[in-house]
Amino acid sequence: MTKALYIKTYGCQMNVYDSARMIDVLAPLGYAPVEDPDGADLVILNTCHIREKAAEKVYSELGRLRDLRGARKRTGGPDMTIAVAGCVAQAEGKEMLRRAPHVDLVFGPQTYHRLPELLAQVHRARAGGGNAPGRGVLDTEFPVESKFDHLPEAVASQGPSAFLSIQEGCDKFCTFCVVPYTRGAEFSRPVGEVIAEAERLAAAGAREITLLGQNVNAYHGAPPPNSAGARPWGLGRLIRRLAEIEGLDRLRYTTSHPRDMDDELIAVHGQVEKLMPYLHLPVQSGSDRILEAMNRRHSADDYRRAVERLRRARPGIALSSDFIVGFPGETDSDFAETLRLITDIGFAQAYSFKYSARPGTPAGTLSAQVPEAVKVERLASLQSLLDAQQEGFNQGSVGQGMPVLLERPGRKTGQLVGRSPYMQAVHVAAPANYLGQIVNVRIAATGPKSLSGRLIEDPVVGRSEASGTMAVEVHP
Ligand code: 5AD
Ligand code: SF4
Repeated sequence: MTKALYIKTYGCQMNVYDSARMIDVLAPLGYAPVEDPDGADLVILNTCHIREKAAEKVYSELGRLRDLRGARKRTGGPDMTIAVAGCVAQAEGKEMLRRAPHVDLVFGPQTYHRLPELLAQVHRARAGGGNAPGRGVLDTEFPVESKFDHLPEAVASQGPSAFLSIQEGCDKFCTFCVVPYTRGAEFSRPVGEVIAEAERLAAAGAREITLLGQNVNAYHGAPPPNSAGARPWGLGRLIRRLAEIEGLDRLRYTTSHPRDMDDELIAVHGQVEKLMPYLHLPVQSGSDRILEAMNRRHSADDYRRAVERLRRARPGIALSSDFIVGFPGETDSDFAETLRLITDIGFAQAYSFKYSARPGTPAGTLSAQVPEAVKVERLASLQSLLDAQQEGFNQGSVGQGMPVLLERPGRKTGQLVGRSPYMQAVHVAAPANYLGQIVNVRIAATGPKSLSGRLIEDPVVGRSEASGTMAVEVHP
């Protein structure tokens, strides 16, 4: 009998990918994804610990699930298993079982290949009357075996635009960031495994693949068995190889570190047409003093130079970034440096955050924390500058024709939504069977966060894909 599985995903695209893989792991056990927790037999919250707000959302969702489960019990309905995965699970472990005693299972990002066994433990405990509140099953190890060696082949369709995790973890230890603690040490999947998964995704209808990693351009995967030489492949070389896969038309990668933009990768931006002319390259701050305190190990000018090299290789490349305001010790003049960097570079879009002190990180205990009111003010002025740049970039698209990969139905009937090469969301009137196609669109107008246009010509309709079945709340 099919069992209903509801997965809610928070945070980064890496979690979106992990959730898709959990669906793959659970499919042989009879679980099929549903879009609502109401009738679910198993609920998994795949969580994010990057900022305090993200972590807190999990507890309010757990409160709602407790009520839902209670209501079901009272009406004699079937029981529900509640599991928490991802980075909050990893960071809090036992503490989470104490704070939310109705949770049955807590497991980290490196152990979800063990889900069948973990669920069996939950059910055994339940059958033996042993799943009293607070007695949930916990697995937050960093196992020596790689989960990738124990996952089934990816089968859950991700639609026309798919994610593929190629690298995980981080050894950079920026002083504000929990990732090195929640995701562990840097690890690159072997090239052969990545190619095989990319080929499967393409065969299942993906036209675009975004290669994922916390530090994706630090990728150094073991070479495929038949390749000359035993040296690991960098991201540039991997992209050249993936671009040979038939049916795949677009490649992207995220998230990168400025220090790892090597010559080969920059050259690939100029030479591989399938690599989209858009790059998310977080800089965090424009002040050298703050960059140093963040342990970013590059200066603002290093960043400017990296962008210059990229623009020389691929004129017109659009840039996106992440910014943190109110890092401990940030002065008005440090902040002014950040605004200056933004003005110098010109971003097509960006994500910006107030610094959030995270437990266990070096910056979390610094005494010079910036008052909330100052953070709020700085965030507002930073965002108004970034919004103006984004609007300017989008305005520049009006009148242009560009290829758009249609990914999902729009809100209005008869409308589909897709992405331009520059990651802009584009709304266009098109028949539903155009989903999964790359169509040429003349951009007619821009809204605050998206564009709209009309079809220039009919695409060749050959593929169509259902859109995803997961609830997602993602940040960059
Ligand atoms: N506070 C605020 N923002 C943070 N980020 C990471 N850690 C923190 C923190 N403690 C931001 C960075 C990163 C993005 C994913 O989240 O900008 O690039
Ligand atoms: Fe966090 Fe820095 Fe690693 Fe990015 S590079 S995941 S910000 S520690």
